[in-house]
Amino acid sequence: MTRMEIGTVQRLSERLGKCVKVGQMELALFRLSDGRIYALENRCPHKGGDLSQGIVSGEFVFCPLHDWKISIKDGKVQAPDHGCVKTYKVEIENGKIYIQL
Ligand code: FES
Repeated sequence: MTRMEIGTVQRLSERLGKCVKVGQMELALFRLSDGRIYALENRCPHKGGDLSQGIVSGEFVFCPLHDWKISIKDGKVQAPDHGCVKTYKVEIENGKIYIQL
């Protein structure tokens, strides 16, 4: 596994997604109102919507294209739709955000 720095906590607004490019990959970073930070693949499993542009409500993000509801914590698509978004383990150290790849 590789650990990569992908930004700072300070530059991440609460409940606003942020798109971060890591090599060929795009991640959607979210900071929830409890301060916890999560990283998901920035691609909706339905038709590839940009999840970092979605509306955040509680621990869910609503895809900006067709409104699928996706858990930011575990990437699971909520019923009646189904599917899953890949999630990445986030670590915070000295205000910096790292993910495990
Ligand atoms: S692309 Fe996300 S709901 Fe359709």
